Amino acid sequence: MTSIAHQTAPPGRTMERTTDPAPVPQVLQGLTAVVTGGSAGLGRHLAKGFLAAGARVMCAARGAGDVMDLLADHEDRAAFLSADVRDPDSLQRLMSETAERFGGIDIVVANAGITRNGGVSRLSPQDWREVMNTNVDGVFHTVRAALPHLERSGGSMLTVSSAMASRAVPGASAYAASKAAIEAFTRCCAVEFAPRGIRVNSLSPGILNTGMGEIVGADERLRALYWPRMLAGRAGTAQEAVDAAVFLVSPAASYVNGHVLEVNGGLM
Ligand SMILES: NC(=O)c1ccc[n+]([C@@H]2O[C@H](COP(=O)([O-])OP(=O)(O)OC[C@H]3O[C@@H](n4cnc5c(N)ncnc54)[C@H](OP(=O)(O)O)[C@@H]3O)[C@@H](O)[C@H]2O)c1
Repeated sequence: MTSIAHQTAPPGRTMERTTDPAPVPQVLQGLTAVVTGGSAGLGRHLAKGFLAAGARVMCAARGAGDVMDLLADHEDRAAFLSADVRDPDSLQRLMSETAERFGGIDIVVANAGITRNGGVSRLSPQDWREVMNTNVDGVFHTVRAALPHLERSGGSMLTVSSAMASRAVPGASAYAASKAAIEAFTRCCAVEFAPRGIRVNSLSPGILNTGMGEIVGADERLRALYWPRMLAGRAGTAQEAVDAAVFLVSPAASYVNGHVLEVNGGLM
C-alpha cells in the first residue's frame, strides 16, 4: 500500500504530498494513450505518469524536446511522433500511425497549448490568432482526428484547460479566452459523443511547477498576484495534476463525463 507523508506547512495551507516508491496501481494497463504537447512540461509528465500506470503512450509535438530519455526507458510501449496540432492532416497521421503501431487508441489527451501575454491594446492580432490556432483549433483538430479510433475502443478524451478559463488577471485575455472555449467545447463533445460510448472531460490546472507555470513561479510580480489567491499557498506539482488526469482517463472515472476538474490548490 502507498504510504502518504506530509511536509509541514503553515496553518490553513494545504501540504504537498510525498509518496514512498511503492508500485503505482496499474489502472491504465493495456490501454493506449496519445498525448499532444507530450515533449515537455505537463505533457511529458502526463506521458510518464501514464507509462507508470501501465499504458502504452504516443507523445506528439512539433519537436521531441526532452522526451526521448523517457521513451528510451520504455521502448516497447512508448514512442514519439512529430505533429502540429494546427494542422488537421498532421493529426490524422498521428492517430492512424499510433493505432497501427499499438493496435488501437483508448485515450487522447489534447494537452498542447501556448500562451502570449500582454494587455489587449498591446497584444497583436497575430499573437491572438496564434493562441487561438494552437489552443482552440488545435483541440478541435485533435478531437476530430481521434474520434473514429475512440469510437472503436469506447475510449476517453481529456482536454487541458486552465484556471484562467474562469478567472481574470491583466494580460491573459487571449489565453483565458482560449481556455474558456476549450471548456465549452469539452462539454459539447461530451454530449455529442456519449451515445458513441466516449467520455470527454477536461483537466484544469492552476499554476504548476512545470512548463509555463514555472515562468509564473519565477516572476515576483506574478507571484504577488497569484500566491495570495491560492489556498494551498504554493504552486502545484506536476504529479498532482498527473494524478487527477490518470483518474479522469481511467475506468475508475467511468461515471464522470463532461466534467472540468480543477486542480489548482484552491485558487480564488
Ligand atoms: N504548466 C502550468 O502551470 C499549466 C497550468 C494550466 C494549464 N496548463 C496547460 O497545460 C498544457 C501544457 O502546458 P505546459 O505548461 O506544459 O507548456 P510547455 O511546457 O510550453 O509545453 C507545451 C507543449 O506543447 C507543444 N506544442 C506547442 N505548440 C504546439 C503545436 N502547434 N503542435 C503540437 N504541439 C505543440 C510543445 O512542443 P513543441 O513546441 O515542440 O511543439 C510542448 O510539448 C497547455 O495546454 C497549458 O495551457 C499548464
